[in-house]
Amino acid sequence: MTTKEYFSFIVDQIHSTVVATVDNQGLPVTCVIDMMYADENGLYFLTAKGKNFYNRLISGKYLALSGMKGEDTMSRVAVSVRGKVREIGSDMLPLLFEKSPYMNEIYPNEKSRCALTVFHIYEGSGEWFDLSKKTIERDSFFFGINSDRASGYYITDKCNGCKACLNICPQRCIDMISEKTMSLRLQAVIRQNNCLHCGNCKSVCPAGAVIKT
Ligand SMILES: Cc1cc2nc3c(=O)[nH]c(=O)nc-3n(C[C@H](O)[C@H](O)[C@H](O)COP(=O)(O)O)c2cc1C
Ligand code: SF4
Ligand code: SF4
Repeated sequence: MTTKEYFSFIVDQIHSTVVATVDNQGLPVTCVIDMMYADENGLYFLTAKGKNFYNRLISGKYLALSGMKGEDTMSRVAVSVRGKVREIGSDMLPLLFEKSPYMNEIYPNEKSRCALTVFHIYEGSGEWFDLSKKTIERDSFFFGINSDRASGYYITDKCNGCKACLNICPQRCIDMISEKTMSLRLQAVIRQNNCLHCGNCKSVCPAGAVIKT
């Protein structure tokens, strides 16, 4: 899926997300915030200027959010996003009200909306984690920045092909491939989209071939 599709999933399928910010003592605070609109440049939500949440956004300029969809753990998909946030004011308010018409019940007229302002999450990264798939599926995505390598476990060319990591991997997501160098040799590779990041492969590897980035 593309970053835009992950954002659309958050807005259309999850909508109410749990957002973490930091208060003026450096302590974490969470609250539920609706993600009302998305484009390829990020996510948009609104809040009122009188809220403590507003102050935390203005002072920290950063947030992290998580949301999930599904009936129970083994049918759930979770998406998390962390990134920089900026206030863009009231210009997008009509669009956000159009996309989330229930807002007309909470703020019923123009006058009552004067406290509202829109924020844009414009630069950061995200993670998709799908427990409904056998084996699990995960993905990383980025927006507003260029990054080609997500954090995770990777096997370097120190691998001697001993296969010790294969059976200890709970998701069986390590494959042996043939590397053609001077002679044909076996090299382990991790299917990143199925890896739990449990770290078992790194612990067991006798060659120190597994790195965590
Ligand atoms: C389902 C749900 C959705 C909410 N969506 C928003 C929202 O989009 N924007 C907002 O400012 N508050 C929203 N709220 C209310 C905030 O969660 C609430 O104001 C939050 O506790 C912030 O409080 P604080 O400013 O005291 O930290 C929502 C609450 C619920 C239960
Ligand atoms: S980190 Fe865990 S799940 Fe990922 S490849 Fe290593 S053993 Fe498998
Ligand atoms: S345990 Fe280490 S050396 Fe052995 S196959 Fe796995 S990555 Fe390669």
